[in-house]
Amino acid sequence: MPFPETFLTELTERSDIVDVVSGYVRLSKRSGANLFGLCPFHSEKTPSFSVSPDKQIYHCFGCGKGGGVINFIMEIENLSFPEAVEFLAKRAGMALPEESNDRESRKRSRMLALNKDAARFFYEQLSTPAGAPALAYMQRRGIGPVTAKNFGVGFAPDTWDSLVKAMHAKGYADLELFDAGLARQGKSGGFYDTFRNRLMFPVIDVRGNVIGFSGRILGDGEPKYMNSPETLVFNKSRNLFALNLAKKSKSGYIILAEGNIDVVSMHQAGFDSAVASLGTSLTPEQARLLSRFTNEVIIAYDNDGAGKKAAQRAIGILEKLDLKVRVLAMNGAKDPDEFIRTKGPAAFRNLLEGSEDQVDYRLRGVLEKYDLSQDAQKVAFLREATELVARLPGSAEREVYAMRVATLAGIPADAVTAEVKQRRKRLLRSANRETERKQTRPGRITETPGVKRYEDEASGMAEEGIVRVLLLDGALAGSSALPPPEDFTVPELRHIYTEILARLRGGGEISPATLGGVLNGEEMSLLIRLQEAPLAAANSERALNDYIHKLYECKELRQKPSGPEDLLALQQKLRERKGY
Ligand code: UTP
Ligand code: MN
Repeated sequence: MPFPETFLTELTERSDIVDVVSGYVRLSKRSGANLFGLCPFHSEKTPSFSVSPDKQIYHCFGCGKGGGVINFIMEIENLSFPEAVEFLAKRAGMALPEESNDRESRKRSRMLALNKDAARFFYEQLSTPAGAPALAYMQRRGIGPVTAKNFGVGFAPDTWDSLVKAMHAKGYADLELFDAGLARQGKSGGFYDTFRNRLMFPVIDVRGNVIGFSGRILGDGEPKYMNSPETLVFNKSRNLFALNLAKKSKSGYIILAEGNIDVVSMHQAGFDSAVASLGTSLTPEQARLLSRFTNEVIIAYDNDGAGKKAAQRAIGILEKLDLKVRVLAMNGAKDPDEFIRTKGPAAFRNLLEGSEDQVDYRLRGVLEKYDLSQDAQKVAFLREATELVARLPGSAEREVYAMRVATLAGIPADAVTAEVKQRRKRLLRSANRETERKQTRPGRITETPGVKRYEDEASGMAEEGIVRVLLLDGALAGSSALPPPEDFTVPELRHIYTEILARLRGGGEISPATLGGVLNGEEMSLLIRLQEAPLAAANSERALNDYIHKLYECKELRQKPSGPEDLLALQQKLRERKGY
């Protein structure tokens, strides 16, 4: 019996991999974000077993084993997947879904159906006389009928029980409405509508389920927004408003805003990749979700102190997942909605195209902390700014930003460049000590030159490539160029490919927890290795096409090996066709 995905997600969230692994392995902080220890799965004297708290995975450079927390328990306790789940559930104090599983999933689908019916009800209110105030408000905010339809914007009438009554008529019980957060219970025991006299934004997950609502008051008043409470199907920290629409965007990046209204206005102006976190600051789960659909995020938070602070925090979270981050500097407007309204979509497009990379943004953050007219503060500014520049990877980049710092501080560029060089040297010295330590570790090398991993090595590498690109950019799972799984020659890769494609196409999650039940240990380790291998993702679509091309080339070669001459001729032919 498969476990529900929500259960597995909650289980892994409550079973921090560092805590669990620490019960078996002594971990110590070595470098960057990872912890290291002696691998419990093979014998070694220096640590090559790493645990990433951010990604919640382990990976041994020595023996190649890897996976999530559930795999770890399977391996170390020698348990099957369901047994490992049970083991961790006990540890986390969670009840197993057991037979209630069926009941729970029925409850879930019933709640989703109710939410959908409620959304439809709210939407229909817009075309009744009761909806007039909402239409007027939408007009004032510039939300047109097409946008309203795309988002499913609706109106909760100014009465106590419109929704409750309408849903009763559709066969839903009071308690169901209550559990879904759509009704509340009064002192007398009766149930009444949670959302009254509000503009309703349904929150829709990437699979198209209505999971909750966000209701804005018409005009001024408190609270400005009311959101669905956490329910069986709604978890604010794991979803993003409008991701169901943004995931289809062709723009190549996702715009992350604060407000629902901002998102609606951006989409309306043609910026169809805007999303917002649901009234919380960006969570690591939301960032992981984003990373499934894009590798670049443009932050468009409100132009105020809170927005700037939230942006800094979001940058940190997003960069941990290797996402490219840029920040919009919206001068003269408090948020994207106001910017588009006052300056127009073309100006917003310019802003997006020229949006500050995060170095500029960070420098500006440093600058704002100090009063440069005072010498002591100027020195402090220089210290912090040069440290920031010294950490940049490219020498040209360091040069450019050193000059910028010099201009900002009004001192000669040479002085700043020299200071940056000094700091850089210091950083490198400590980094070198670190790598020296690591390089003396035996068995770290994962790529063994000259050793064939796969029977058809070239095809195997192409298959690895296809899987890697898909892991990086899940949106490509929709590509019609993808080969059928039968064309994969490596059975493990074929299985991984089949499973991740099915999940990505179904809008599901790719996580060690959910794949742990279907992939075996070897396949899981392979998956983790691929996920951890760096891949330049400048153009994932082109990379994917190259790999697919290679795969077919190998297939053609395999199918015609009637004699050595034929093979040579074929190789020659292929070379000519490719022009090398
Ligand atoms: P904003 O106050 O910026 O809202 O809050 P907004 O959507 O941009 O609306 P306008 O333009 O002022 O009319 C940003 C987000 O924070 C959440 C909502 O998700 C909102 O979109 N929020 C805000 C709440 O959850 N509750 C609140 O009381 C206020
Ligand atoms: Mn706002």
